[in-house]
Amino acid sequence: MPSMATQNFRTSNGNFQNEAKFDPTRRQKIKEQRKSLPIAAVEKRLVEEVKNNDTLIIVGETGSGKTTQLPQYLYYGGFCREGGVIGITQPRRVAAVSVAKRVAEECGVAVGQKVGYAIRFEDVTSSSTMIKYMTDGLLLREALLDPYLSKYSVIIVDEAHERTVHTDVLLGLLKSVKEKRSKFANKALNINNANSLKNGLQEVAEHDGPGSTFLKPCHGKRLSPLKLIIMSASLDARGFSEYFGGARAVHIQGRQYPVDLLYTLQPETDYVDAALITIFQIHLEERDGDILVFLTGQEEIESVERLIHERLRQLPEGNRKLLTCPIFSSLPSEKQNKVFRLAPPGVRKVILATNIAETSVTIPGIRYVIDPGVVKARTYDPDTGIESLDIVKTSKAQALQRSGRAGREAPGKCYRLYPESEFGKFEDSTTPEIKRCDLSNVILVLKALGIDDIAGFDFIDKPNRISIIRSLESLFLLGALAEDGKLTDPIGQQMAKLPLEPVFSKALILASQFNCLEEMLIVIAMLSVESIFYAPREKLEESRTALKCFSSPEGDHLTLINVYRASVEFLEKSRLTNNNEKAEKNLRTWCKENFINSRSLSHARDVHSQIKRNVEQMGLKITSCGDDMLVFRRCLAASFFLNAALKQPDGAYRILSSDLTVQIHPSSVLFRSKPECIIFDRLVRTNNSYIRNICRVDYLWLPELAPQCYGLSE
Ligand code: CDP
Ligand code: MG
Repeated sequence: MPSMATQNFRTSNGNFQNEAKFDPTRRQKIKEQRKSLPIAAVEKRLVEEVKNNDTLIIVGETGSGKTTQLPQYLYYGGFCREGGVIGITQPRRVAAVSVAKRVAEECGVAVGQKVGYAIRFEDVTSSSTMIKYMTDGLLLREALLDPYLSKYSVIIVDEAHERTVHTDVLLGLLKSVKEKRSKFANKALNINNANSLKNGLQEVAEHDGPGSTFLKPCHGKRLSPLKLIIMSASLDARGFSEYFGGARAVHIQGRQYPVDLLYTLQPETDYVDAALITIFQIHLEERDGDILVFLTGQEEIESVERLIHERLRQLPEGNRKLLTCPIFSSLPSEKQNKVFRLAPPGVRKVILATNIAETSVTIPGIRYVIDPGVVKARTYDPDTGIESLDIVKTSKAQALQRSGRAGREAPGKCYRLYPESEFGKFEDSTTPEIKRCDLSNVILVLKALGIDDIAGFDFIDKPNRISIIRSLESLFLLGALAEDGKLTDPIGQQMAKLPLEPVFSKALILASQFNCLEEMLIVIAMLSVESIFYAPREKLEESRTALKCFSSPEGDHLTLINVYRASVEFLEKSRLTNNNEKAEKNLRTWCKENFINSRSLSHARDVHSQIKRNVEQMGLKITSCGDDMLVFRRCLAASFFLNAALKQPDGAYRILSSDLTVQIHPSSVLFRSKPECIIFDRLVRTNNSYIRNICRVDYLWLPELAPQCYGLSE
């Protein structure tokens, strides 16, 4: 009997055969939902368009089904037939994870099998994964190992309108990968043995000139041309089309109900408070429907969540049926499902989201949107070379997307927490991130890809030349680049391998020389998550007392180490007498008692084990400095010297590398003691310029440990 090839067929009812069966009523419901999506009407046409065009731009309103459906259509359309994978990039981790889970469910498979996802520090794919969701940054890193991205037959760059810095770099990279792959595919047609196939590839690499990397196609498979699809929710596809040489653009007709826009009469001084009032006003006065509130970050979301619960307790029993669902980038994946699940009958859901809910994820059931008109954005000042996270006004395009979320299933209302006259002052669209961020991370990746001429790289929007020079300069000062602009060996090469900000990578590499890598791993993991501590307004004193048990007079980094170690010790002890689940539960209680954010801590533990694996693979020695924290602080100074600041007579601080004046954030353990000289991790701007995560250092260490920056001649 001839052996059967393993191939998945589509049955007449649209399900995969031979795969896990799910609750039949839910499956039926999902099937109906899928059929009713606007994109379902054009399935055949879309597959034809992809067949006929090597680059295609697809524009469609949020919720029309682009992200969840198109990859499935292409899968059934035969684009994985020769083993090629369909890759879909997302700017945000949460979107990659939640969409992959949804699509796996639609296909009736477990996530990680045919449908999987990969984000930094989490890879849920297997050799059978054919539809792979990932962050744009992750695909960029994959290109370091496989410059032709040879395992993909189709790459879909989703949410391209967001124009994150990774999306922009990816577009440039994919443009050249696509050209190379079609060149190679043409060559391969004329050759018929393995050896000449290899020569063909070599020829393409040589043709591309110095700097191009020769690599064998993955799994010994032939390289086929790459299909590239750019998806966007903004209606203007011209920019993308022009960039890809007049590529074809198709529009998917969306469905949108009218949305009533309501503005405040006066500007609000406290948008968090205004949002809270509006939430309760809707809850008590308006008919059924869930509320979506746009906030700026995890810390703010969690504080609003607590305030809602507090105010609910003051309401009569019958009015308390309000369910809060936070959603932000670093929300652990197992907690995300709650957002997408319908609330029980009679209960209203209030979703507290960052701008992730603007276009990246579509949450069913929303009828009311509350939009304070602000967003947290990266901002880079090329004059000072300092990047910060600022709360800035949204653009008109963003405000429009946000209000649109209220009218997907029925007519809705959008409460804009600013006067109508303000709206007129917003920018039309958001400036691409590449024009307002520190480029050193991107430059490091490009250099590692063999692209040395950064200014000459084919960006869709060129970054500011001064920003490029500034970032090159800081990479040079960190020792990642040599004077000729090439990556140094081994420092630069090693730094490019770590999926971290360059200064974090440098700190880990240095720590192995200072014999404090164990401590540095903890600190980098803790700094990679948002807000380990929380200090609710109503319990400020209690939380301060709790913090005292961990706080170190040397600063926040050492305090973070104390917290991490105390939590590990608690968990280990608890495991002696409890099973794992119970021990984890106990840890959450311990966190609550100590005003530690258990979500953030658990995320930090994951990040810790991932980067520990990374540095072990690189062969770095993991040793501890024991109680000698002086060594550790010196190592911090040697790595974060670009973020060194000196106290001024008025108690403010001056950043040495930029002359910028900043304040210590009140959450820092050094807020009161104000040492003479410090290093910090980041700058956050609201009304004030605050620095966060601060460590005391000795002024004299700077010329000693970073002479390249603070040489005595200066
Ligand atoms: O990408 P686009 O905005 O065009 O739409 P999508 O993300 O593919 O969403 C299509 C539909 O799937 C929407 O109606 C969502 O409500 C639904 N969906 C869901 O129920 N759960 C998810 N985790 C993701 C999408
Ligand atoms: Mg989408």
